[in-house]
Amino acid sequence: MIINKITIKLGLWFFFVMLIIEVCLFFFLHTSMVKSRVEEELIALQARGNNHREVLEDSYNEDTLHHIAVMEWNADTEVIITDREKNIIISSSKLAEEEKEILYKKIESVPRNGKILENRWKSEKYISTVSPYAVNGQQKGYVFMFKSTDQVQGLISRLNHHFLVAAVITVTLLILTILFLTKSITTPLIQMKRATEKLSRGDFSVHLPNMGEDELGDLSRSITILAKDLKHLKEERSEFLSSISHELRTPLTYIKGYSDVARRRDLADEDRERYLGIIYEESEKLSNMIKDLFDLAKIDKNTFVIHQEKVQLCSYLHAICEKMLPAFKEKDMNLEINCNKNIHVLIDPMRFEQIFLNLFDNAIKYSDPYTKTSVFVKREKGDVLIEVRDEGRGIPKEDIPFIFERFYRVDKSRSRDFGGTGLGLSIVKELVEAHQGCIEVKSELGKGSAFFIQIEEMTE
Ligand SMILES: Nc1ncnc2c1ncn2[C@@H]1O[C@H](COP(=O)(O)OP(=O)(O)OP(=O)(O)O)[C@@H](O)[C@H]1O
Ligand SMILES: [Mg+2]
Repeated sequence: MIINKITIKLGLWFFFVMLIIEVCLFFFLHTSMVKSRVEEELIALQARGNNHREVLEDSYNEDTLHHIAVMEWNADTEVIITDREKNIIISSSKLAEEEKEILYKKIESVPRNGKILENRWKSEKYISTVSPYAVNGQQKGYVFMFKSTDQVQGLISRLNHHFLVAAVITVTLLILTILFLTKSITTPLIQMKRATEKLSRGDFSVHLPNMGEDELGDLSRSITILAKDLKHLKEERSEFLSSISHELRTPLTYIKGYSDVARRRDLADEDRERYLGIIYEESEKLSNMIKDLFDLAKIDKNTFVIHQEKVQLCSYLHAICEKMLPAFKEKDMNLEINCNKNIHVLIDPMRFEQIFLNLFDNAIKYSDPYTKTSVFVKREKGDVLIEVRDEGRGIPKEDIPFIFERFYRVDKSRSRDFGGTGLGLSIVKELVEAHQGCIEVKSELGKGSAFFIQIEEMTE
């Protein structure tokens, strides 16, 4: 068994709290049982006295008196019958000193039903009651009843014995329960502590057993998820770093190669011009990529602040499309927008524009001339759905789940003409999510693609 701080702490806590509760309970039970037992004894004694009184009142003569005394010889009670001045007429046994003391105590008025004379069973030798008797309607004397407290004490010591046995059994059961409980609570906690220690050392191979459906189970599942996430994050980070270095290397290789060639003295001016052009293009690509990476890093670090404001969506989109139209025209393509509703949304206009610039950039890059790109805006259950649809080459089914990942491109051979870096859509996704929206894509190879952006409509 695992003995550790938490087990001891929990165990001791349980033990003392339960012990205090038990001691209080036992004390209360014991005193009330003893009290009621003594009361019972006193009531029985008084009833016996009353009984003798009845017999005596029925027929008051020598025989009856004698008869009563004989009745008490064999019983564990004693009877003394006196006249009104407490002169003893008959007694069932020889009087002890203590009995005399009680007997000659001054008694005030005694009700017909009798009364208790002595009830201090702990300190005195006898408990006692008295019942008055009358003959021919005149009070004649008293029937005193005595019972030795040795007997009461014997009864109570038997009771104490039962209590002791019960206490030993409950304490044993208590200890066993505490051992079981602390073990069942602390073992999972300790397992989880070890797991998190392992995580903090960078070892993510954490396996926690199923701990049920309670809060401990929830905690262990959270730790397992955390371990998986951390592992994924670590892998993603190293993958990301290697992708970056790879992506940076390609344009740099071009720049290095072409600048090497351009340096040659015997090169025709025309060629040099062309090579310098390529170098310029590649360095521009490089700086764009670095800007994109910087944006992504900012979103990741949550230092990315968006300044949302109320925007009339249709006029906003019309303005962006107008700005982008020349780029489409340059490739003999067309851009069409279908939006004439009065829809308001809460967005950061600068950032949101970047979403459409990236989507339109893709539409231009991955479509043939003489095709059309359209934007549709629809209301849907309190949300706004913006669709950007092109008639381009489409995305293969198996690539669709990955196109929002960083550096993911369908065309892996990165020809210089199609030299995207694969960051555009991942930026789009992060930006849409920063606006509490979501983005989806539907695409058919050879027919075209459609991107759907859903954001909340601003009402009021
Ligand atoms: N409209 C589209 N039609 C066909 N394929 C697309 C379309 N949009 C994206 N893709 C595919 O998804 C990939 C990822 O797109 P993304 O915009 O993230 O990267 P990129 O365009 O290659 O590079 P970047 O946008 O960073 O310059 C693209 O390489 C392309 O293969
Ligand atoms: Mg792109």
